[in-house]
Amino acid sequence: MAELVREPVLMVGEGWDAYRLLDSGHGRKFEAYGPYRFIRPEPQAMWSPRLESWDAHGEFVPGSDEDGGGRWQYAKSVPDDGWELGWGAEARFTAQCTPFRHLGFFPDMAPVWEWMGAQLADATDAETMNLFGYTGVGTQALSRFGRVTHVDASKKSVAQARANATLAGLDDRPIRWLVEDAMKYTAREVRRGRRYDGIILDPPKFGRGPDGEVWRLEEGLPGLVSDCRQLLDDNSRFLFLTVYAVRMSSLALGGLLEEVFAGLPGTIEHGDLAVEEDALRQPQGERAGRLLPTAIFARWSNPR
Ligand SMILES: C[S@@+](CC[C@H](N)C(=O)[O-])C[C@H]1O[C@@H](n2cnc3c(N)ncnc32)[C@H](O)[C@@H]1O
Repeated sequence: MAELVREPVLMVGEGWDAYRLLDSGHGRKFEAYGPYRFIRPEPQAMWSPRLESWDAHGEFVPGSDEDGGGRWQYAKSVPDDGWELGWGAEARFTAQCTPFRHLGFFPDMAPVWEWMGAQLADATDAETMNLFGYTGVGTQALSRFGRVTHVDASKKSVAQARANATLAGLDDRPIRWLVEDAMKYTAREVRRGRRYDGIILDPPKFGRGPDGEVWRLEEGLPGLVSDCRQLLDDNSRFLFLTVYAVRMSSLALGGLLEEVFAGLPGTIEHGDLAVEEDALRQPQGERAGRLLPTAIFARWSNPR
């Protein structure tokens, strides 16, 4: 019986050469994506910035409504068709300013990619699935351990994910690139009696499938998680669920997994994903970097 650990866990992502959180405050954050620095909205940064000024290449100015719209304003030139960055020993991808205020990958997922690697450490023929896989950095990370099924509703994102894998020289890896609705695809896999060693899902609050299928997180998540559970068994290693931009606690995600994974061994944990800001060097000594929360998560692990 999978045990729910009640105490929340904090997964912290530190900066690396491709991504650094330089400062934050007054509802904004100042980040470096390799050689380029950007300012983006961050409602959770309610504190004051620490740096006198933010010398950025560009800033994303949000539109009027909460969820959408807005545009980039540039103070210095930034390559239109993007620039190459990397994570870990292998992963390579193109960063670029997208209309959705993102820069082509989600740096706060780095501790998740690491955690998945730790769950699969000794595996060479693992079967894993990356649902809502976007530009596929997580898929590259999983492909070291076996075959990966990458599922995303956006043809553009899947094409970019394939291009990123080519950039990383991973075209020979057994990756299935699928433009599919996550709920439909997972339900079909259940009907086919398929089995996976690990599944990661990072659903948006709201989304659309390739044929206009509507995804609303609060409505769709319980059914999707229970279908994912049916694709896992006693020998499977993990499921990792991240959720962001919703009024929900990680404890609720933990509670959902506790019910759905009741029939399997292992452990269920929940908590926050956060990014650590660069420490601030000051004459009177170094001030530790602040933690900026980015998402909540719940995870099931079943170590061998
Ligand atoms: C936040 S992104 C995921 C980021 C990804 N986990 C990463 O680390 O790069 C959410 C993704 O969900 C996809 N999406 C939205 N609705 C979907 C649906 N119904 N089925 C499959 N993918 C969907 C979007 O195209 C987008 O790429």
